[in-house]
Amino acid sequence: MAITFNETTRIFTLTTAHTTYQMQADAQGYLLHLYYGARTAGEMDYLLNYGDRGFSGNPNSAGSDRTYSLDALPQEYPSLGTGDFRNYALNIENADGSQCCNPVYITHEIAAGKYTLKGLPFVRAEENEAETLKIILEDPVTKVELHLLYGVLEKEDIITRSVIIKNAGKAPVTVKKAQSACLDFLHGDYDLIKFYGRHAMERNMERMPVSHESTRIGSRRGTSSHQYNPGVILAGKNTNEDSGSCYGMLFVYSGNFLVEAEKDQYDQTRIQMGLTDELFAYPLEAGAEFTAPEVILSYTNKGLSRLSQQYHHCIMNHICQGKYVHANRPVLINSWEAAYFDFTGDTIVELAKEAKALGIDMVVMDDGWFGKRNDDNSSLGDWYVNEEKLGGTLTKLIERVNVEGVKFGIWIEPEMVSEDSDLYREHPDWAITIPGRKPVRSRNQLVLDFSRKDVRDHIFQEMTQVLDKADVDYLKWDFNRSICDVYSAKLPADRQGEVLHRYVLGLYEFLDRLGRRYPDMLIEGCSGGGGRFDAGMLHYTPQIWCSDDTDAIERLEIQYGTSFCYPVSTMGAHVSACPNHQTGRTTPLGTRATVAMAGTFGYELDPAKLTEEEKEEIRKQIGRFKEYYELIQRGDYFRLTAPSEERHYAAWEFVSPDQKEALVSVVASKVRTNDPPARVLLRGLKEEGIYLLEGREYTGGALMYGGLPLPEAKVEYQSWEFYLKLKN
Ligand code: GLA
Repeated sequence: MAITFNETTRIFTLTTAHTTYQMQADAQGYLLHLYYGARTAGEMDYLLNYGDRGFSGNPNSAGSDRTYSLDALPQEYPSLGTGDFRNYALNIENADGSQCCNPVYITHEIAAGKYTLKGLPFVRAEENEAETLKIILEDPVTKVELHLLYGVLEKEDIITRSVIIKNAGKAPVTVKKAQSACLDFLHGDYDLIKFYGRHAMERNMERMPVSHESTRIGSRRGTSSHQYNPGVILAGKNTNEDSGSCYGMLFVYSGNFLVEAEKDQYDQTRIQMGLTDELFAYPLEAGAEFTAPEVILSYTNKGLSRLSQQYHHCIMNHICQGKYVHANRPVLINSWEAAYFDFTGDTIVELAKEAKALGIDMVVMDDGWFGKRNDDNSSLGDWYVNEEKLGGTLTKLIERVNVEGVKFGIWIEPEMVSEDSDLYREHPDWAITIPGRKPVRSRNQLVLDFSRKDVRDHIFQEMTQVLDKADVDYLKWDFNRSICDVYSAKLPADRQGEVLHRYVLGLYEFLDRLGRRYPDMLIEGCSGGGGRFDAGMLHYTPQIWCSDDTDAIERLEIQYGTSFCYPVSTMGAHVSACPNHQTGRTTPLGTRATVAMAGTFGYELDPAKLTEEEKEEIRKQIGRFKEYYELIQRGDYFRLTAPSEERHYAAWEFVSPDQKEALVSVVASKVRTNDPPARVLLRGLKEEGIYLLEGREYTGGALMYGGLPLPEAKVEYQSWEFYLKLKN
């Protein structure tokens, strides 16, 4: 049993292969968090500390006991108005205008299998892979109920959390804040690891102590954003890649979010994740309910690489869905950096011919095939094929591509509208704008109100008219601005706080519908590169274009940061031309491939401009990628160095689950004369195993503890790949 309940002590224990999570519905009815960490037997309520805490208050139910304070005790789901003055997960505004909810334990249910969430993405599991705990708390005055949901995936060391808030009372209330998960720690000093960024430089890793202040990161852009990712790690001070305690929180959601971390007056740490309370208010009539999106928790005491692997497995096997969970992804060539808007049907067919000759599986026609779009100022929303530009119908073009022996993919940005479009001229009210105000423009485009079903239905119909007629194997779903001017013409004034959440639900409904209609079509997510790279999108799009920065050296950092929470199989990565279009940097073709192979792998250049030697090299690269496909895409991923480390070697490793094979990739991001010899310590091998590498034998232990000596870089940005195979 992964979930147990002790009727006497009212302690809930959630157990996974290596972790334990414990909470208690105490004598007052409050749900206290007792423990989350390494797997351990026994009940942990002895850890609770009671003291007369000045200015912290005591709930009335504690009578004259001045030592019972919610401001000091660890909470499972802290609520504003209960005397806990720290960051809170819940704020309910009642019909009388007061902001207070006092949830106490009523009952619980334990069931086999994993709960699901209506209209939201979630971790899915077979009946025998997970158990669910539902704890029901209730405010005795308003009868507002909280259904705290816990999904326990024992083998994966994963615990999911979500909350359903139900107005079981008679008067309306408004949910003003509803986080999805809170973790309280009685002791310890922690670092918060977060991933910040900007367009074309996403998910830079930053590690900072949690101190006596409240750190808030999140998004108010309507999407999860380039700026902060909704995946964070709380790590012990000495935790590194190999050892130490770390807790992950990953939000399965693609819109606004908030992470709060705080060390309180008694040096206790609280970290929370969920929807942000900004631009948010959700009125609940009597009987109505609200579901907070899911957070995936994971813990290990074996360091950051292990935590990442736990998330990688969870995302690959329990978040991504559809055909491409198991099917190999195509190696593709994308027209964007090859031609930008300047292409015709013949250009695409030429790309297909070159692709075939290189061993590439698919050609993707990026932005510019619809309406009268020849730059980024018009036509979004007019999803009809520009047959003049393509020299015929899309069906014909795809036939011409398929005849060359390659598949066909297409780009689209369904949530957007250009002011210069037929759609906008006909339905200006479909764009998200505030009445009486001129909307904020970005890339000269506005966002369609996807919270509206009529708007979604129209776009869906436009899209299916294109997709039904053509054999499209792949779709790149883009989103190229942040959402501002938050307002929906379909909602009354007192419900405008729902718009952005309803927008995300609308997006999910659309993607779900699309996936059902075209189950064989691979969808790659994108938002100006990786501006919506989150576990919510990965439920519908098993890969996401990682960044608009295709420079291999910059990508080292971007993919490094991304790898903490997301697997290689989700990271769209391509070999592009040099000098690189974003940075002007020139890197060896081999290095560009080594870096792109730590992702979904593809090309983003004009092959007609390549020399014969380069073409030959590309053929070999694709051969190598396909040979190592299983190892790269489904093996265990280890970060061996941080790209910003002083020695300037970025190194990572893929190890097959049976430890019989490994592939080590190394990029020298600087060349230095008379450089001290460098080595890298490998990981995840069989200590006693004998591995063959370039005609020599090494024990796994030697490579892991003595290390692998690295060759001296002779040219800037040189790279190496070392393939190791266990001798039988
Ligand atoms: C975004 C994407 C690019 C490309 C362009 C097209 O920036 O990230 O890859 O598709 O849009 O406009």
